[in-house]
Amino acid sequence: MNSLDESSRIFGSPGQKQRTQQERFEKVRTLIRPSSSEASVELATELAELIQSRQESGEKVVLGLATGSTPVPFYRELIRLHKEEGLTFTNVITFNLDEYYGLQRDHPESYYRFMHDQLFDHVDIPEDQIHIPDGTVPMEDVYDFCLGYEKAIAEAGGLDLQILGIGRTGHIGFNEPGSSADSITRMITLDRVTRQDAAADFMGVANVPRSAITMGVGTILNARRLVLMAWGSNKAEIVQEAVEGEMNDRVSASFLQSHDQAVFLVDEAAASHLTRFRYPWLVGPVEWSAEMMNRAVVWLSSKLEKPILKLVDEDYNEAGAGDLLASTSEAAYQVNIDSFNRVQHTISGWPGGKPGADDSNRPERATPFPKRVLVLSPEPADAFIGMGGTLNRLKEQGHEVKLVFQTSGNLRVADVAALNFARVVLEMGERTDGEGWSGQKDYAQSIVDAIADKGEFGVDPELVRRLKGMILRGEARDAASVCGVGNEESRFLDLPFYEEGRYRRFQSSGVDVEKTRGVLEAFRPDIIFATGDAGDPSSNQAICFQVLSSALKSLENGDWSANCNVWLYRGRDRPYEAHEIEMAVPMSPDQLQQKVDAIRKFMSTSDDDVSAPARNQEIASTYNDLGLAEYEAIEAFRKWRM
Ligand code: GLP
Repeated sequence: MNSLDESSRIFGSPGQKQRTQQERFEKVRTLIRPSSSEASVELATELAELIQSRQESGEKVVLGLATGSTPVPFYRELIRLHKEEGLTFTNVITFNLDEYYGLQRDHPESYYRFMHDQLFDHVDIPEDQIHIPDGTVPMEDVYDFCLGYEKAIAEAGGLDLQILGIGRTGHIGFNEPGSSADSITRMITLDRVTRQDAAADFMGVANVPRSAITMGVGTILNARRLVLMAWGSNKAEIVQEAVEGEMNDRVSASFLQSHDQAVFLVDEAAASHLTRFRYPWLVGPVEWSAEMMNRAVVWLSSKLEKPILKLVDEDYNEAGAGDLLASTSEAAYQVNIDSFNRVQHTISGWPGGKPGADDSNRPERATPFPKRVLVLSPEPADAFIGMGGTLNRLKEQGHEVKLVFQTSGNLRVADVAALNFARVVLEMGERTDGEGWSGQKDYAQSIVDAIADKGEFGVDPELVRRLKGMILRGEARDAASVCGVGNEESRFLDLPFYEEGRYRRFQSSGVDVEKTRGVLEAFRPDIIFATGDAGDPSSNQAICFQVLSSALKSLENGDWSANCNVWLYRGRDRPYEAHEIEMAVPMSPDQLQQKVDAIRKFMSTSDDDVSAPARNQEIASTYNDLGLAEYEAIEAFRKWRM
């Protein structure tokens, strides 16, 4: 980026708000970058400039810092600047936003530990310049502690810059709905949604603390500059609400609208619900491509709750899409038919292409037939959640299917599953008089001991993770067989980034790409089904997708891969909206039941997704509302364009 271009700098000048016609719905400055890594590098660069210029004048910088997966790439870049470019943090004082109440500092999920692991241990900031709310102060001292925290910030000269993420409830720090604009540092009860979102980190929602100490909205707004970061489509809705909605205490991030040096720094996926991207025809002239037209018609039909073919000219005008009709010089009737046909053509019971049929209006090509179809599942359950029905159809229609589980998914397996296994082995050992069972008994005992040692939230040692992974393998094989996929057709890749990582902190390497590339080159698929493209860039799924994308890009151009179609499915993240769908595979009630049966095979995981079938039914009812055929359920896909 050109650092001379003041208007696009993150650290803009006071009161600088975007006011182009396109951005007029946005009540706070919003900067959009192609990816979280580009945005994070840019922010780290501007912060480094600030730290250095203060150093030159012998001044300090007071930073408010955040936790969560969002700032991790920003912290990684700060560490790189320190290690490779000599950036020093000796004049930096930090105050963290929040801490879970009741967690010891060395708890793997404490924010104290998080900040040290992710930043402080890798840079030269003196420990006495670091401040993080203490989650262990006795209840009766919390009030005084909080006042003391406020005082310390004031004595440091106030916050120069506050870094923020945003939770799904719209919270900043842990300022859950109901937090007022002038609230200060205090104890807060965590919202159910917030605890749900932290469930994977804590191995189940029951283990997530119920309360936290957080800076208040007022504390945060007192900072001289605020940067709120958000990445991935899972944040798109809440970002839109905070940026374009009324300022109110249901969404504490909306209070940033009242600060004249606040900026939302988001990637394209997190920006996708802003009016200028979602309904661009409402903010200015648009190029009415077939895709845009389709999007407007589907939007209009759902907004007015009228099937596509019943929309009339007045509907278009009243909803602000009259421009569409004017641009085509066609009446609503023709536009409706075009759009209806387009949606109609997304529906196909032949996800691998229909042999011998005219494929000019089908989502997938007729030839070759049968096809080599690679189905990638980041965690073992993902493919079943996202495309269990389609997987079954592909098999039934005679394709050569290979189901590859990219990671072991062992972090999701509950301790109790491993313990049960170990206890069975121990008991078996007892009953067989110990003859020949001593090795097995020792192994089982070491599992029981390792789980006791690490405690409820501790990090599983290698031994335990391996056993959990094996338990999940068995379940994945059972689920695959429900969908007609045999043992020899599935493979477990155990990508190393996952085996060595933890939620929110995964980091892939060339080894992951090489392993994935190996699968691609050996199988040379005609079609790949994959997921993880947009939801949350820090997730296991997204990293698997980045790895796939790097592997595909590294393949020689012009060979088989040029003819390979990549279809994206959605597993745990937000389902596709009707206008985004490019292939809709219908399911009968029996097929839906079969998918439920497959997902049920995952018994060892603590919080597995049981809402997948309901989501498939929802897509079917959306299609029905648009005026298309009424199916029981639909699995939806979108084509990936490299
Ligand atoms: C927690 C933290 C917030 C953070 C939010 C989102 O609630 N207290 O500060 O913004 O999680 O987390 P993530 O960045 O992982 O999406």
